[in-house]
Amino acid sequence: MSEPEGFEAGVEAAELFAALHAECFPDPWSEADFARLLASSGVKGLIARTEDTPQGLSLIRTVAGECELLTIGVLPDARRSGVGAFLLAQSEAAARRSGARRLFLEVSERNTAASALYESKGYRQIGLRKRYYRDGAAARVLARDLV
Ligand SMILES: CC(C)(COP(=O)(O)OP(=O)(O)OC[C@H]1O[C@@H](n2cnc3c(N)ncnc32)[C@H](O)[C@@H]1OP(=O)(O)O)[C@@H](O)C(=O)NCCC(=O)NCCS
Repeated sequence: MSEPEGFEAGVEAAELFAALHAECFPDPWSEADFARLLASSGVKGLIARTEDTPQGLSLIRTVAGECELLTIGVLPDARRSGVGAFLLAQSEAAARRSGARRLFLEVSERNTAASALYESKGYRQIGLRKRYYRDGAAARVLARDLV
């Protein structure tokens, strides 16, 4: 696959965000969820594409120097080819541009793929929220400094 490229997209792309999310997650967010989030203060949406085909998405929210990665996903057929790492790097760059000094995120203790991605990029666990997800799994809270 050729190198991905990334672009920021807003409320006008809520339908695309929802379609991508639905392919990445078993309990996806709706188009209305994305429209609401993308219209919120401090929220930025990113799409990764290769050769004009969208392959993944991420959403970040920056408030008072702290950024949260709200979601990140890559289409199943495009995984393990660097798109997730690309989206994470693009999200970090967008967070820095918004003035964030730190990025944090939550990941299920059962999501070994995502944890491996984050840990390979320098994220470290700063907390654990027990029985956070519907399946009873705990949420690992991870963070890394951006400066
Ligand atoms: C997590 C996710 C975004 C990773 O995307 P990806 O495009 O496959 O990731 P990359 O190809 O950039 O992988 C970068 C590194 O992460 C780690 N990694 C990614 N997927 C992995 C897996 N299934 N098993 C082990 N390590 C993995 C590896 O270190 C990998 O580097 P390598 O391929 O050189 O070994 C993708 O699996 C996904 O969309 N999952 C479903 C949605 C989800 O769980 N999102 C995260 C919610 S917190």
